[in-house]
Amino acid sequence: MKPVQIAGKVYDVGVNDWNIRDFHGYSTHMGTSYNAFLILDEKKVLIDTVKAEYADRLLDHISGLIDPKSIDYVISNHTEMDHSGALPRIMHRIGEDKPIFCSKMGHRNLSRHFSQNWNYKPVESGETLSLGAGTLQFIETRMLHWPDSMFTYLVEDKILFSSDAFGQHYAGQEKFDDVVGAAIMPHAKKYFANILMLYAPLILKLVDQVTRMNLEIDMICPDHGIIWRKDPGKIIDAYVQWSKQEGIEKQAVIVYDTMWKSTEKMAYAVAEGIAEVGALARPMKLRQWHRSDVMAEVLDAKAVIVGSPTLNNGLFPTVADFLTYMKGLKPKNKLGAAFGSYGWSGESPKVVYEELESMGFDMIESPLKVQYVPDKDAISACLDLGRKIGEAVS
Ligand code: FEO
Repeated sequence: MKPVQIAGKVYDVGVNDWNIRDFHGYSTHMGTSYNAFLILDEKKVLIDTVKAEYADRLLDHISGLIDPKSIDYVISNHTEMDHSGALPRIMHRIGEDKPIFCSKMGHRNLSRHFSQNWNYKPVESGETLSLGAGTLQFIETRMLHWPDSMFTYLVEDKILFSSDAFGQHYAGQEKFDDVVGAAIMPHAKKYFANILMLYAPLILKLVDQVTRMNLEIDMICPDHGIIWRKDPGKIIDAYVQWSKQEGIEKQAVIVYDTMWKSTEKMAYAVAEGIAEVGALARPMKLRQWHRSDVMAEVLDAKAVIVGSPTLNNGLFPTVADFLTYMKGLKPKNKLGAAFGSYGWSGESPKVVYEELESMGFDMIESPLKVQYVPDKDAISACLDLGRKIGEAVS
């Protein structure tokens, strides 16, 4: 990907990571991009960098426009290594004494990632930096999603460089929302569900703060995926909606795994019961669906129903993995239920139930367990459970 001019003097000089499929446990089936931005004003500024292994490609992109040594300032909106990993190589090339503007927590966190004694310039929220014709304004966004996170706003062009917020794990030569179209929204939603869901209350506060600042935004440039230029309000509105975690009426998700298809038979019967009363449920088997794809469904669902066989007196491993992952993302306002088949001890449905309860789920029914293979009566019990769930989400 060559540098892409995104406004008069602003370029995306980042890189596509076309073939990454696992981003610290998030399945990136469309790859991702590490966006970095170059502003060529009287002062030349690089906003964020890329993963360490792509440092030379970032330098190639910068070199296509200017001599990297002519960069005056570096802005680090976020310390995580997919945006800071290339800093040592970049600083070595442009000059170790060049100022790095970052939040106070950015200063602390960058110092703990890299041993170099760089020329850090910690900034406060609201502080500005003149580039000549243009002005940058810094907005701290602590815990969205790291303590160091901040936005940088190019005042005259009304461009918000939003770090991870509003991003999507999507690699493409097309770089704008109006080129990709509506197909980008599922990627943005999955990204929100897996990276930002647990910070939903902070997102609502941030949007409120930005609204009160009367910040006009013509373009949002996240550090991953496409740039929002046609309708930046669309992704802001979507974040507000997702952050409320209201769920979609009549929608449930059934997350399960199975050893000898008994728990799967139960899952399908529960789904049938849900459909019988006019609601919808998607059964998702955890060895077929990646946990990060399941979380995108969880975001939309009013009820999350979890099924696990009992293996060695405990949870099936993929179900334990999923429950741990979902717990960390702190979904809110969910109904829940638990089920599963067993051979002789049958602990899993109760363990699932207690885990969901500990996450604050409102449990619809006591755990449903079936020994060995569900017979007609057991299937009937699953159908009943499904109907209760369907009624509860409607
Ligand atoms: Fe894209 Fe939090 O790093």
